[in-house]
Amino acid sequence: MITQNYLSRLFSLEGSTALVTGGSSGIGRAVAGALARAGASVVVVARGEAALAATVEELVADGCRAAWVSADLGTREGVRSAAEEAVRAFGEPDILVNCAGVNLRPPMDELGEDVWATTMAVNLEAPFLLGQRFGPGMARRGFGRIIHVTSQQAHRAFVQSGAYGVSKGGLESLARSQAEAWSPSGVTCNTLVPGFVMTPLNARLADDPEKVAALAARTMTGRNGLAEDFEGAAVFLASRASAYVTGQSVFVDGGLSVH
Ligand SMILES: NC(=O)c1ccc[n+]([C@@H]2O[C@H](COP(=O)([O-])OP(=O)(O)OC[C@H]3O[C@@H](n4cnc5c(N)ncnc54)[C@H](OP(=O)(O)O)[C@@H]3O)[C@@H](O)[C@H]2O)c1
Repeated sequence: MITQNYLSRLFSLEGSTALVTGGSSGIGRAVAGALARAGASVVVVARGEAALAATVEELVADGCRAAWVSADLGTREGVRSAAEEAVRAFGEPDILVNCAGVNLRPPMDELGEDVWATTMAVNLEAPFLLGQRFGPGMARRGFGRIIHVTSQQAHRAFVQSGAYGVSKGGLESLARSQAEAWSPSGVTCNTLVPGFVMTPLNARLADDPEKVAALAARTMTGRNGLAEDFEGAAVFLASRASAYVTGQSVFVDGGLSVH
């Protein structure tokens, strides 16, 4: 009982509300599930309705509180309407997870304005706009958790980093700017930095077993990431336990970045 109370005091998200973009697939789906199972009421936002509905169905079947909003976060209007629709489910969020992302990686010479614009809109501008919408309210209420999902390419360029790396580098800076602004009011802002995780985002690579094995060999753990590897770190960053962790990049990459 002492253990349970202790863990609850540190990590329980009971009574809180979370909005998870990209919560219908891959890392975002695992994070949404983790926050919901830790007690938060969770709204998942993405475009595809079938995957959103399936995610929420699974969580509700497990006794969690969850809802979904279908929206294109690649337009400012889409972001605004997603935010307003999301608060109708469980109220203003205490936890915002920006996990929706696109991974368009043409060679630099062929990187056109369309790919640049889409990448910046989904990967960087949507997190900024959602932060502007929800960060000040969190600060007024004296508690908030903003978690962005970035990438190794935020820290070094490799495999045609291009616009993707720029967007993720910007997202790391956005976390620090938000942390500077709102941490004094109890709102921490951090990033989760994946290595290589087998999800629909990089299905292309999954067809090349040699490349997949080479990526696994670059980690210290000897394997590539799984979406569920993000569950514990997400609950920690969303919980009261992380009150003194802000403006940080938390690498969940099996040691890839330091090998
Ligand atoms: N997998 C990796 O190895 C890896 C490595 C480094 C970083 N990351 C980052 O981790 C995050 C999650 O990636 P993942 O691998 O889990 O990918 P994923 O399984 O493809 O999931 C991406 C999610 O984003 C949503 N999304 C994409 N474009 C959207 C848009 N315009 N509007 C609304 N939602 C949109 C997708 O739903 P819809 O398509 O239905 O909209 C989906 O829910 C991304 O930010 C990615 O950059 C992944």
